Amino acid sequence: MAKMLEGKVAIVTGAGRGLGRGEALALAKEGAKVVVNDLGGGFDGTGTAHGPAEDVCKEIRAFGGEAVPNFESVADFAGAKRIIEAAVSNFGALNILVNNAGILRDKMIFNMGEDDWDAVINVHLKGTFNCTRHACAYWREEHKAGRSRGGRLIHTVSDAGLLGNPGQTNYGASKAAIAAFSLITSREMARYEVTSNCVAPGGRTRLTTDATPSMKALMEKVPPAGEFDLMDPENVAPLVVYLASDDAKDISGEVFRLMGDRVWFLRGWHTIESKGKGKARWAPEEVGPVIKEMVKKVGAKEEIMGPFKEAGLI
Ligand SMILES: NC(=O)c1ccc[n+]([C@@H]2O[C@H](COP(=O)([O-])OP(=O)(O)OC[C@H]3O[C@@H](n4cnc5c(N)ncnc54)[C@H](O)[C@@H]3O)[C@@H](O)[C@H]2O)c1
Repeated sequence: MAKMLEGKVAIVTGAGRGLGRGEALALAKEGAKVVVNDLGGGFDGTGTAHGPAEDVCKEIRAFGGEAVPNFESVADFAGAKRIIEAAVSNFGALNILVNNAGILRDKMIFNMGEDDWDAVINVHLKGTFNCTRHACAYWREEHKAGRSRGGRLIHTVSDAGLLGNPGQTNYGASKAAIAAFSLITSREMARYEVTSNCVAPGGRTRLTTDATPSMKALMEKVPPAGEFDLMDPENVAPLVVYLASDDAKDISGEVFRLMGDRVWFLRGWHTIESKGKGKARWAPEEVGPVIKEMVKKVGAKEEIMGPFKEAGLI
């Protein structure tokens, strides 16, 4: 069977471990040449190491794929430009950018330090902006020169932001903002044949074990040999591969969740109901009952653990 991404060049940020590693391997198995970016730090964003990105490149080369490591931080605007340039200088083009790099520094809002806020926003939201901005400038130039690259942006979001998880205002705000960023980018880049979508993953990685002690026991449950492992981080990669393919050219500005054997389609802010007063301004005592009734009719918000229940994890 023909490979889905033959001739394509991909970048996966934060691909030295966890979900990004699985995505880099899967993209390479489908024929893409991959820049394996990873700073190699701790889950809280401290430290650096070359080992993780180098090891994933070795894994890719071991099955005959092509990969180069890159150790830049996505949080650095100039560094992010060098990540994009690494694809072009090593492999001649860029078609796919997977924004995956991430860290966690969970605290309740009243204990959140400025450094915890800045570090998380810088890696997730600014990092996604940095890499996307340079990739889009490249794709626009290529398109103008008559070489449309059919750019594919796949950003990593999280239920922490889409549903709202206590202890993660920094992280959740970044992830919800990335969903909005992707929607706007999809609209701006459509004319250059670039798509932009988000994936909310679920998988056993150090972010869901070491960095989130409350999830550790659940995430570390490994099924008996031969049974499907719902929390294998490599489960998420096939969706990323598909969104990176030519066949996905008409899917853009959307959000999908993949956990275990289940794929979800999500839409964010959208009108549930509206009501006009009839060419007159509302009084506070009039508008109150109207919005109370609207909220009551719809009922409770989706719970943060809801997807885990649906996926059969709890
Ligand atoms: N694991 C889950 O269930 C889950 C759920 C929702 C969202 N996510 C998201 O998935 C992504 C991957 O997380 P993971 O769970 O695989 O964690 P992970 O810690 O295993 O992998 C993240 C990788 O990103 C790298 N990284 C961190 N900061 C970087 C920077 N500034 N520049 C380049 N690389 C950097 C790290 O070195 C690490 O190897 C993250 O964006 C995370 O928020 C994960």
